[in-house]
This record gives sequence, C-alpha cells and structure tokens, in this order.
Amino acid sequence: MPDVEHIIGLLLGTEDDWPRAFEALVKRLGPVKDGAGRTHGIETKRVTIEPFDLRDKPRHSLVIDRLAHWYYHPREWLKKVALMDDVYLLNSPFTFQSMEKHAAYCAMIRLGLKVPGTVLVPYKHPVENSRWAYTAARYNQPFDLDEVAERLGYPLFMKPYDGGAWVGVSKIDNADELHAAYDTSGERLMHLQQAVEGYDVFARSLSIGPETMVMKFRPELPMHERYAVSHNFLGAGPGMEVVTISQLVNAFFRWEFNSCECLVRGDEVYPIDYANACPDVSLTSLHYYFPWAMTALLRWSVFCVVTGRKPRLDLDTARYFEVAARDDLSYGDKLARYQALADEYFETERYQDFCASRLGMVDEMVHDWVTSPDFDELLVDTVKGTYPEAEHEMFVSHFRGLIAAWIHDRTH
Ligand SMILES: Nc1ncnc2c1ncn2[C@@H]1O[C@H](COP(=O)(O)OP(=O)(O)OP(=O)(O)O)[C@@H](O)[C@H]1O
Ligand SMILES: [Mg+2]
Repeated sequence: MPDVEHIIGLLLGTEDDWPRAFEALVKRLGPVKDGAGRTHGIETKRVTIEPFDLRDKPRHSLVIDRLAHWYYHPREWLKKVALMDDVYLLNSPFTFQSMEKHAAYCAMIRLGLKVPGTVLVPYKHPVENSRWAYTAARYNQPFDLDEVAERLGYPLFMKPYDGGAWVGVSKIDNADELHAAYDTSGERLMHLQQAVEGYDVFARSLSIGPETMVMKFRPELPMHERYAVSHNFLGAGPGMEVVTISQLVNAFFRWEFNSCECLVRGDEVYPIDYANACPDVSLTSLHYYFPWAMTALLRWSVFCVVTGRKPRLDLDTARYFEVAARDDLSYGDKLARYQALADEYFETERYQDFCASRLGMVDEMVHDWVTSPDFDELLVDTVKGTYPEAEHEMFVSHFRGLIAAWIHDRTH
C-alpha cells in the first residue's frame, strides 16, 4: 500500500483518445517516491456529473478539465473544489472564464509583445436585453466601420473576441468583405485585427506546465496534416522567443495546459492567439507529437500531486507590469525577465529535478507503451471513431507511419 493516494480526475466531453492514453500511462507508472521517501499511489477517475453539496469533500487532488468551457454545472463544481479544497486544476475556470482571447491580447500588449493592431467593434445586432434600446440610444456612438478598417489597413481578420475553432473568423481584403462579415457577425462581439502577411513560419506551441513543444503549423491543410513533423524550423532567437511567449502567457494567467500561435516573419514574432482553455491534443491532430504531449501531461500532473504544489487562484500581474514599464530594458531583456518569472511560477528547476530523480523511467515506459499492441489498438479505435469507413485503412497506415517515425527518432 502506498503511503499517500491521489486521484487525478478527468473532466471530459466527447474525447476518448488522449484520456485512454493518459489512463494507460498512469497505470503503467505505478507508485512514485517523493523526496522524503514516502510512496504516492496515483489513480485516474473520470468525473461524472451529478448533484453536489457545496460542503462535500472531493476525492480528487487534481482535475484535468476539458468540459467546463461550455458545460456550466461541472464548471461551478471546479470552482467549488478549487476554492474550498485546494484541488489543482488544469485549467482553472477562474482565469479562463474571465480572461478571454481579448483580455489576453490586452495583457500581452501591455507587456510589449508584438500583437498586431486590434480593435474591438460593438455588436452588429442588438443585445438581447430589455434595456438595450434605451442604453444604446443614449450611449452608443455612431461609428464608421470603413474608417476603423482603413486605420488598421487591409488585409485584416475579423474574429470573435473570445474565439475558438475558427468559428466566425474571416480574412477581409476590402470594404465589401468587411461589411458582409460584420453584417453576419450578428450577436457576436468581433475584433478587427491587422493580418500578418507573408510570414515565414506559423509556429503553434503546446505547453503543459513548464514544458513547451513548438510545432510547425500549416493552417491551410486538413486537420490531420496541419502539424508538420519538422525540427529546427526556427532560428535560435525566434525559437526561444516563441517558447518564452508561450510560458509567459501561461504563467501570467495561471494557464497550465494551453496552446499559443505565433506568426514569425524574419526575426519578428507576432503572437495572434494564445488563449485556448481546451487545446487540441487529439491523436489524429498531434500524431508524431502525441507521445510527447502525454508524457508532459503525465509528468506535470504527477509533479503537482506528489509535491503537493498549491494552486494559485490569484494573479501576480504587478510583477510583470513592473518589468514592462522599465525604459532601461530592451525587448530582449524584458523577455528574459518574463521567462524568469515564468520559471519561478512553474518551479521549472524543481520540476526538472523531480523528473530526473523521480520519473527517470518515464521515457522508456512511454516508449514501451507506444510500441505495444495497446497503443496500436488505441490508434485504430481513434481512426474508426474519427473518419468514415472508406478512409479507415488509409488513415490507420498514415498515423502508424507517423508513430513509427517517432519511435525511430527516439531510438536513433
Ligand atoms: N492577425 C492575423 N494575421 C494572419 N493570420 C491570422 C491572424 N489572425 C488569425 N489568422 C488566421 O486565422 C486563423 C484563426 O484565427 P484564430 O486563431 O485567432 O481563431 P481561433 O478561432 O482561435 O482558431 P483556433 O481555435 O484554431 O485556434 C489562424 O490560425 C490564422 O491562420
Ligand atoms: Mg487560433
């Protein structure tokens, strides 16, 4: 019997691929010893939805949430267990609910990042509220949409302030397209944002705790081909900058499982989207990078529960803003300081030491699992659940090939 037992809760919607992967890895891992020599047993449990008393004690030490951004009953449960019981959350609705894409732009602009020029325009259609007509008549300023767009300059993007999954995103090249897009925006609140044109690389990174994987992304291709298997596609400078931006955003907002999109042109890095409460980690999107993502999720959640890392509900914005306000620091100096703040928040050094001393066997364990029939069964089931029957064979061999490439790269 382990000295301490932990339950990692999985709050899920329709996904089954990565949860099965994560469950399999936690099972294979077995008990973990902490620095004091105590053994920690770790178990996963899928969270079910039912009435809960506000005074109930949860059994979970940590919950990985993939549901609360649209399902509010479990969202309120997450808040309750965070506030009352210190349950560790990836991610916390306290910051994800209040800080949308819009707030993330604002904060990062203040920190000096090269967010393209962005304007928030009022709703096209009246807001559903009996007080709207009076309020709008009194306070809504008439505005010239063309003039706003011209000030930003074409081409631009119109996209929801709280976006996700490209819904309502359109590229706008002229005034006609601008009006057509605005007219159809309806009750959606929209940003107009300068397009970053002629970029060399679309870098999409996935971060879990202090770990970041920067991947080359090709948004114009179908989903299963968007993440290219490519290494060293960024120079050292922009490569580090993308990592720093990803970790800075996460440390600043206390988001610990998030993806970040940066467009890189020459040596300039333009962050365009970095608030994804539920980043895509499906096997069919990440393929080659899927074992990395599962390893990072395992390591970070085990680190959090075994070391008893305390969740932080408060933000620590002042320390970041102090750096931002310093005239004597260059952009590069500021990035270095932001990275240091992020490392402090994520306890990066302690985490790395923990991984080396307590989880040294994980790489080999993941390798064993990825080369096992269990993994292949997961791959086949996922393909069957994702694509029409006529495409099963093609996709099974496609993804097997990418996984074989990962295995090859690990062992050579
Ligand atoms: N300022 C910009 N310059 C160039 N391309 C952009 C810009 N903004 C958005 N795009 C393009 O539009 C796509 C969708 O925009 P964005 O990421 O902001 O929306 P989203 O709904 O959050 O998408 P997702 O959920 O896939 O992240 C981006 O992946 C990129 O290809
Ligand atoms: Mg995006």
